[in-house]
Amino acid sequence: MTNSNASLLMCPPAYFDVQYVINPWMEGNIGKVVRSRARKQWDALVRILSDRSEVRIVDPIAGQPDMCFAANAGLKLENLFVPSLFRVPQRVPEVPVYTEWIRAQGIEVRDIPDDCTFEGEGDALFQPGRDILWAGYGVRSSLASHKFLTEFFRCPVYSLRLVDERFYHLDTCFVPLPQDRVMVYPAAFDRRSRDLIREHFEPSRRIEVGDGDAQRFCCNAVRVGNTLVANHVSDALRRKLEDWDLEVVTTDLSEFILAGGAAKCLCMLLDQDAVVPLSERKAVESPISSERLELTGHLLDSGLLNRAMDAVTAAGGSFRVEQFRAGLRHDQTSLCRLRASAPDRGALNRVLKELQGHGAVVVASTKEASRQAAPADGVAPEGFYSTTIYPTDVYIGGRWIRAEKQRMDAVLVIDGGAGSVRCELLRNLRAGDAVVCGVEGIAVHTPETARTEEAFAFMSAGVSSERRVERVVEELALEMKRIRSRGGRLVVVAGPVVIHTGGGQYLAEMIRNGYVQALLTGNALPTHDIELNMFGTSLGVDMKRGTGVPLGHQYHLRAINRIRAAGSIAAAVEQGLVTGGVMYECIRRGVEFVAVGSIRDDGPLPETMMDLCRGQAACAGAIEGADMILMLSSMLHSIGVGNMTPSGVRLICVDINPAVVTKLADRGSVESTGIVTDVGLFLNLLAHYLSEDADDEKYEAAVAAKRLRTQPAPE
Ligand SMILES: NC(=O)c1ccc[n+]([C@@H]2O[C@H](COP(=O)([O-])OP(=O)(O)OC[C@H]3O[C@@H](n4cnc5c(N)ncnc54)[C@H](O)[C@@H]3O)[C@@H](O)[C@H]2O)c1
Repeated sequence: MTNSNASLLMCPPAYFDVQYVINPWMEGNIGKVVRSRARKQWDALVRILSDRSEVRIVDPIAGQPDMCFAANAGLKLENLFVPSLFRVPQRVPEVPVYTEWIRAQGIEVRDIPDDCTFEGEGDALFQPGRDILWAGYGVRSSLASHKFLTEFFRCPVYSLRLVDERFYHLDTCFVPLPQDRVMVYPAAFDRRSRDLIREHFEPSRRIEVGDGDAQRFCCNAVRVGNTLVANHVSDALRRKLEDWDLEVVTTDLSEFILAGGAAKCLCMLLDQDAVVPLSERKAVESPISSERLELTGHLLDSGLLNRAMDAVTAAGGSFRVEQFRAGLRHDQTSLCRLRASAPDRGALNRVLKELQGHGAVVVASTKEASRQAAPADGVAPEGFYSTTIYPTDVYIGGRWIRAEKQRMDAVLVIDGGAGSVRCELLRNLRAGDAVVCGVEGIAVHTPETARTEEAFAFMSAGVSSERRVERVVEELALEMKRIRSRGGRLVVVAGPVVIHTGGGQYLAEMIRNGYVQALLTGNALPTHDIELNMFGTSLGVDMKRGTGVPLGHQYHLRAINRIRAAGSIAAAVEQGLVTGGVMYECIRRGVEFVAVGSIRDDGPLPETMMDLCRGQAACAGAIEGADMILMLSSMLHSIGVGNMTPSGVRLICVDINPAVVTKLADRGSVESTGIVTDVGLFLNLLAHYLSEDADDEKYEAAVAAKRLRTQPAPE
């Protein structure tokens, strides 16, 4: 007797067992199945289903303990069957048996290309009464398979990414129901998929089940007509389903749960409630997008490949490595060509942007970089590409052009009919400027990250061992000597803590000895430096005794006032009002200094720029051509300068707060070194090493140890 025209395919559990572990449910259950009990449970399920539908049987084969889970053999709609391509090799031999049975019914069989994985109805469920298919990916089936499902079944396929290994198939956590309803366990999906489900099914047409029901396989329910058959349904859930006029039948399937399956897994639907027959459907285009990418460099030892692959999956995409050439020696680079796919173009573009940040090049895009005109002064077109600190090439007019003035958080502007490309700040855009948009035709060259461990070794421990700080400062002094001897450019970014900690005298000494070519700072460092020179205090603290002096809190204002009266710091030095210190040395040595103010500033001093845009431009000009930037205990100014510094410039960040150092120095490259220590002690130590005789041999040895490894792996 049947109350629906449903027809199901099932396979007796004659060889059912847990013999391997391919899902978390199987763990600890090897050999625990009591087959006679499983058979009784299966027979009971068949009885319930036979009362309501036609049950057809496939004969099991020995050696395939999971073959009773018929849902995973493929997906059938009308006279078309798409066999599974199991990700797990243990279940591959089941498929031909089911496929032959189907073929014998005169049904056409179409294969998905074998570079995909697809686990049949386990991951593909039609919405009853709607010609749409919900398809799972991320654990077993691949996203790429959904493109072929769209093509074969000529209906929209909604890709849902599974993120919990316990709910490894869509049919363990998602039950499409008649009247455009659903029963779903949301925690099994990523956020995008959850949003998609919630967008599609308004609350009155959606039942979200809790952990308790989900873990007892309530969603692995098989529906025949208006009857839902499952291993377990709580009373509360049953009431909700009955309110939807569904008959709920539960039957114990605990033996099958030992292997991670229940009612739905044991049945393949031979009939679906389609609206438009397959033969009358029009072709539908799949939104799934993919691109071919190339990554080169120290992919393995730097962890770059892991990060790139994680970026794809985290963005809801999937990837397939098409070629991998490993660098076999420590000095060889690797090459990886992969195809990244995402559920739609927007998601793919987000993936590509992230991958470009890791140095990937979109190979398929020997396509031109796309460009759009800036709609107004200071406004970029919506899809603008936002820059990183790394050298960037743009493909225009059939050739790659390197962007000029590289910095992060800028846009790329194409000049002179594609003759050149420059990084430009949003505020400097002119209406009509040709702005690079999207992700195609852009190649970002990230540097090697393999040896950041040296730079961060003593930071990651939290507290720096004194000897290690000493060693790093000693090496730094050698590098600085080298820069000075070749006439290079060293820029110091410093905050007032330098003065408060007694480091001012050492910084002044460095300036006097020609180690500093530019000083970038705020209003406070010059203020307290001059206060110290005039009154012997820094923020009212006597720097010799380390104690506050009466009325000392006024001294910095008095210092500012005297400079304002003189007209400028330079004039005050000329007039003999300032006789030593950091600013004195800058003026006397003609060292460029840029003071950019902030909302906290007193005064300000006459040289302090209170126009931030002007200040940013002045800082950008000062760091041009810098070989090294020494960032000393100023979070505000250091981050500001860091953002405008292209990669390739050596950065040394000194701060007492490890979080600040990590933020500043974490540019994913060997070129930055973070030092967590008191800046006064640091400058004292640095001055000590700088005063030692130059030791070029030692320097060369240090440089040789750090030499970049750039040889590509042999073909
Ligand atoms: N009177 C004034 O005009 C006045 C006074 C203070 C600050 N300001 C202005 O405020 C802005 C930000 O000032 P800022 O740079 O001092 O603040 P900031 O918060 O940006 O940076 C201070 C940094 O120093 C670190 N630090 C603290 N003690 C340290 C130590 N002993 N050794 C090493 N690092 C240490 C902190 O962890 C922090 O990261 C600037 O523009 C400055 O000119 C003005």
